[in-house]
Amino acid sequence: AIDIKKLRAETGYITLDPGFKNTGSTSSAITFLDGEKGILRYRGYPIEQLAEKASFMEVAYLLIYGELPQAHELENFHNSITKHTLVHEDMKQFFEAYPAQAHPMGILASMVCSLSTFYPESQDPNRGYEAIDLTIHRLLAKLPTLAAMSYKNAMRHPAMYPKNELGYCENFLHMMFGMPTEEYTPDPVVVDALNKLLILHADHEQNCSASTVRIVGSSQANLYASIAAGVSALWGPLHGGANQAVIEMLTKIQEDGGDLQKWVDKAKDKNDAFRLMGFGHRVYKNFDPRAKIIKKAADDVLDKLGIDDPILDIAKQLEKVALEDEYFVQRGLYPNVDFYSGIIYRALGIPTEMFTVMFALGRLPGWIAQWKEMVENGEPIGRPRQVYTGANERDYVPMSDRK
Ligand code: ACO
Repeated sequence: AIDIKKLRAETGYITLDPGFKNTGSTSSAITFLDGEKGILRYRGYPIEQLAEKASFMEVAYLLIYGELPQAHELENFHNSITKHTLVHEDMKQFFEAYPAQAHPMGILASMVCSLSTFYPESQDPNRGYEAIDLTIHRLLAKLPTLAAMSYKNAMRHPAMYPKNELGYCENFLHMMFGMPTEEYTPDPVVVDALNKLLILHADHEQNCSASTVRIVGSSQANLYASIAAGVSALWGPLHGGANQAVIEMLTKIQEDGGDLQKWVDKAKDKNDAFRLMGFGHRVYKNFDPRAKIIKKAADDVLDKLGIDDPILDIAKQLEKVALEDEYFVQRGLYPNVDFYSGIIYRALGIPTEMFTVMFALGRLPGWIAQWKEMVENGEPIGRPRQVYTGANERDYVPMSDRK
């Protein structure tokens, strides 16, 4: 066998794989993904079955603790979470300090990190399992509250306190769309659709944000700080920010007259930075199973809510034109989870800028599960190497002699 340590010491041997296209960073028992066959399973359970039959709370439990909960376990889990849905009143002042147009992902990342200052015991890397569980439950409880508060703040509407008798999705919708002046009851179609979307986004093995959470956590930074880093990683348009970018792109195509071939050609042009947002995936090269479920759900939800959204027609036609094009076929570029999700969020009344926040709500149990696994496996600090390509040694040049 090759002694890597000796080889490295003697030759400076380093493997180089920008973007980690072919490098595993860990072994994991959480999510199985087969990019060629379009298979996705959480802890062995096919995503199709979970999206159809489970509740988001069940899936969160499954991801974090490894098994589907018994009825009493689910009840205890949910009860514990509902105990922590309020955020400290002092945090309201943070919201007031943001400009009205502040992007809610910027607010969310800062608020999640700020939670660590209200619960300083979370900063102790040697806290026991009970304390870790408390932090996990607090995060699951408070993320929807913080997300809804950021929306209310942008609208300059009063924040709605959580209602603990409601389910996880209903409570979030109540905090988003309820008003102190009238009773709000969310449409069950909307609750179901949200439940499905959150499940479909709940984990996706070592993606950019999950890897970020693991690597930040590997320095023993606290869980709040690690999740805040995950929120930031998710914000980018090549990752979770794609759902906002897709709707903006489809709207632009519509306003531009709907010439789909023109936009497909633009995406193919290597001198143009434009890409078809919501197309392509690092791992899925045949189809994204989540996109399949979401495309069908978009039809169902819009139908049940009686909404006719021309953007959905544009999306379907764009998919058709792109998938008839050699460029997309050859590269295995298919619609990903975010191509149709924004259309459902629109139908639910969620504003475009909140789409990536919705993704974060869904991904939270996955991030937590990834972090917990990393801690329990005692993984070493994540610290990649590099191949140095800069200047050789040279002497300092005084300012007056610099050319
Ligand atoms: N439109 C046009 N061309 C594309 C697209 C696209 N959306 N995606 C990839 N390509 C092309 C690339 O230009 C490249 O072409 P080349 O071989 O001629 O150079 C080839 O397909 C391979 O693409 P890479 O960027 O090397 O693939 P990578 O795995 O690094 O990137 C990514 C994957 C980031 C998802 C990419 O497909 C992309 O930018 N898609 C659009 C953004 C998006 O939808 N992101 C959401 C991903 S899902 C998620 O995070 C939840």
